[in-house]
Order: sequence, then C-alpha cells, then structure tokens
Amino acid sequence: MKNVAVLTSGGDAPGMNAAIRSVVRSSISMGLNVFGINKGYNGLIRGDIHQMNMASVADIIQKGGTILRTARSEEFKTEEGQNKAVSIAKVFNIDGIVVIGGDGSFMGAKKLTEKGIACIGVPGTIDNDLAYTDYTIGFDTAVNNVLDAVNKIRDTSTSHERVSIIEVMGRNSGDIALYSGLAGGAESIIVPEVEYSVEDVCRRLIIGRNRGKLHSIIIIAEGAGDAKELEEQIRQRVDMDVRTSILGYIQRGGNTTAADRVLASRLGARAVELLAEGKGGRVVGIKDNKIVDVDISNALSMKKEFDHELYKLATTLSSRDAQ
Ligand code: ADP
Ligand code: F6P
Repeated sequence: MKNVAVLTSGGDAPGMNAAIRSVVRSSISMGLNVFGINKGYNGLIRGDIHQMNMASVADIIQKGGTILRTARSEEFKTEEGQNKAVSIAKVFNIDGIVVIGGDGSFMGAKKLTEKGIACIGVPGTIDNDLAYTDYTIGFDTAVNNVLDAVNKIRDTSTSHERVSIIEVMGRNSGDIALYSGLAGGAESIIVPEVEYSVEDVCRRLIIGRNRGKLHSIIIIAEGAGDAKELEEQIRQRVDMDVRTSILGYIQRGGNTTAADRVLASRLGARAVELLAEGKGGRVVGIKDNKIVDVDISNALSMKKEFDHELYKLATTLSSRDAQ
C-alpha cells in the first residue's frame, strides 16, 4: 500500500480532528502518501480530494468539528454511487481509506472494501452506540459538555427551587444520559434501555423535597421519550415548578477532552498500521484499555449491551431512600 486517504462521515464528533491528525502523521511516518477526502462519501464521489502533509493537521488536536467536513450521502447508498466512488479512488491511486464515523459510515466502508478499496473504520460518534468498542471518539467530550450545562442549570434551578428536566442526545443509546446523569448526581436518569414509570420519577422528586433538596435534575435521553410530555406528566402529579432544557448541538461542539484526544490518536494510528499491513474491512476500537480490531461485518452485527450495573449504581447514589 502506497497511497491512503481519510474521510469523516455522518454526524460530527469532537475528536474527529485528533483522529485525522493521527492518521495523517502516522501515514507520513510510515512513508505513505496521505490524502484528505472532504465531505464524507459525497466528496469521494466528486473527487474533492487533496494531498495532506504534517502542516495540514497542525493546531487541530483540540478543536471540535472536523476540518474535512462531513456529510450524509444518499447517493453513496446506491450501487451507482458506490461504483463512482471506487472509480474516483482509482483515479487518485488510493489503495486504502480510513473512515471515521458511526455504524452507517461503517456500512459504507464495508461496501467499498467489497469493491476493492480497503477500508478501516474508526468509531467517531458522540452516541457511544457501537457494541465492539467500550468507547467511541466524542462521547467523553459530549458527556462533559452535558455536565457543564447541568452545573449551570443547577444554579438557577436551586434559586427557584425548581425541577429541571434536561434532554440529551444519543439517538437510541442511553449512554450520554447515563454517564452525565451519574457524574451530575441527577435524581432520575431516563434511558431507552430501561423502562421507567412517571410515578417512580415523581416519588423520587417528593422524597428529595421532603429531605430538604432545593432542586432536582432529571436527565432524559432523546431516544427514551418526549421531555416536554414528561414535564406535563410531572406537573399533573406533583405540585412543583418544572422546566425543560433540550441541550441539542452544544453537546457536539467545543474543545475536545484529553480522553477523546488520546483515544482518537491511538485509534487513528492503529487504523493506518492495519492498512500498511494490507488489511481492510476491519474497524478499530478499545476494549479494557487495549486497542483492538474487529471484522467490520462482525462489528456491525454485534448488539450493544447497556451497562445496567452502572445504571443501578447511579440510581442508588442519587437517592438512596427513594429505592
Ligand atoms: P453515522 O455514520 O454517524 O451512523 P449515518 O447513519 O448518517 O451516520 O451514515 C453516514 C453515511 O454513511 C450515510 O449518509 C451514507 O452515505 C453512508 N451509509 C449509511 N448506510 C449505508 C449503507 N447501508 N450502504 C452504504 N452506505 C451507507
Ligand atoms: O449521531 C450523533 C447525533 O448527534 C445523535 O445523537 C443525534 O440524534 C443526531 O446525531 C442528530 O443528527 P443531525 O445532526 O442530523 O441533526
């Protein structure tokens, strides 16, 4: 393998830049030519490709977003789109591509590999919804962004003695809610993986108030239900002032945490090593703090296990007497 490329695809995630930097600099250190593909698979189809060097990735390790931009490409989902992408890769003599994205992007990487362009997937998504890896790049930063917001909301919530419902992202995964809820001491954490009852949420609120709590925080994952509906249901049952904040895209931006920068640097470097060994159709991840690589089809077929023990711990610690 002589010429490799890197692209980011799907929703952006903080740490994608650190991963791009690692891919580019690892490739150069191994004597490979490295190209950046702009705007995900759309850019590949259109030939929006340029050679990168050490300087192209200077001063980006800390930045959220992705310097290569990202896209969701409908055209690439078609056989015709994929064939165009393969021809363009051949025009640039690209033998292998590092695809940084989530499971949708990995489906694309699998298709390209089957058509002769070796791809290695690097998990870049705030959702932490890939089963084969303990963490995805961007998750830790998103959790810290949520915590920052929780701390601010807690100030005003205390002044007014209010209940604050905070809706966080994660698509069908409850991990952002779980980790930020545990770290932020939320009274209730509502996730798609665990059934909940409004009565239980209300009981915890009342018990908290009775022991003198001035505010209560409820974190709800976007995949678990409608935050505004929950607000109404609580209002109907409990005589407390309830407000909802939907955090939205602030979770996906901003400075990347050290944990995400380190993870991205390790995964990017391993992805290049695999390409240099002539391998494709694999994804890299982290298990028990060791970098691992897994067949892409196996990775896509694995079902993510929710950490019920951690959830139980969060519930116990937030309101022991509400059990
Ligand atoms: P993520 O990678 O974050 O899960 P998406 O699910 O939006 O994000 O996928 C990103 C892109 O990957 C899509 O816009 C599409 O171009 C490509 N992709 C998704 N699913 C497939 C598929 N089944 N076959 C080929 N390409 C796909
Ligand atoms: O996959 C990352 C994510 O931020 C999800 O948490 C969220 O549901 C989705 O992307 C939002 O997507 P979009 O950027 O298309 O609004």
